[in-house]
Amino acid sequence: MAPTLEIKGILVALITPFAADGTVDAAALDQHVNRMIDAGVHGIVPGGSTGEFTALTAQERQLVIELVVKAAAGRVPVIAGTGDLTTQGAIDHAVHAAKAGASALMVVPPFYEPPNLTQLRDLLKEIHTTSGLPILYYNIPSISGLTLTPKELADLSEVGVKYMKDTSGDAPALTELLLAHSDRITPFNGYDTLTFYGLAAGAKGSVWGATNLIPELSVQLWNAIAVEHDIQKGQEIWARIWPICKWLEAYGYPAAVKTGMELRGWATGGVRKPFTMVEGKDKEELFNILKVSGVL
Ligand SMILES: *[C@@H]1O[C@H](CO)[C@@H](O)[C@H](O)[C@H]1NC(C)=O
Repeated sequence: MAPTLEIKGILVALITPFAADGTVDAAALDQHVNRMIDAGVHGIVPGGSTGEFTALTAQERQLVIELVVKAAAGRVPVIAGTGDLTTQGAIDHAVHAAKAGASALMVVPPFYEPPNLTQLRDLLKEIHTTSGLPILYYNIPSISGLTLTPKELADLSEVGVKYMKDTSGDAPALTELLLAHSDRITPFNGYDTLTFYGLAAGAKGSVWGATNLIPELSVQLWNAIAVEHDIQKGQEIWARIWPICKWLEAYGYPAAVKTGMELRGWATGGVRKPFTMVEGKDKEELFNILKVSGVL
């Protein structure tokens, strides 16, 4: 039975560490989850883009969810990334995550051939009914091919959606969701370089991949803006974070995040082929950014 933990704050879109033989590194995963919780992160989101879910087998995806729930040990909620290209896969992963003890599901729609709105609603309803878990809808039009209006997004609350990760980059649409529809859906920021804006506009949290690399700064930003309501302090922290986010967005995201973690001495095992880590001058640039921001 999943603990009823409030889902808000800094929700790290977790990387998946690999061992030298290329398999999922259970020990490193446990260590990383503890590193995040020790830094004050409020929730863990395994199995998303940053977690390289498209490079994992179905078995590996489920193993990662089980390991993360175990490592989190009820201290913070786990929102399991369970979206799949096939409906049966999306349902199997959702039911598995519920049994494993996840608090919610992050669902990206099938992203090769986008369903229409009716089909999407039917899919989400089936996922919600079979798993019994609330859904965090992963709104990423650039990849899903599916652009919904703020009202259509809020209406997804009728089919089990309670939260969303907004990776549209559309700040006016996020504003509309926050100010006109927050009684039905809780949108979290999910667009790195818009994190300051999203939190300042009142988003109840951020699903954030950069947090793997900068958990301390992520939590400081949240505390300044959402807890202390100190915009000036938030701006100062953001000025240190923004160049990191800007850099991360310029590369394959999981590889960029893992490259940064390696610079901190946090072993990741690299990314799965065909992807590769960031090397050379580009990596040096991140090293310098991390120095200036005080991370290194
Ligand atoms: C989605 O497609 C189905 C089948 O073509 C159709 O019946 C339905 O009206 C469509 N819904 C929307 C919202 O376009």
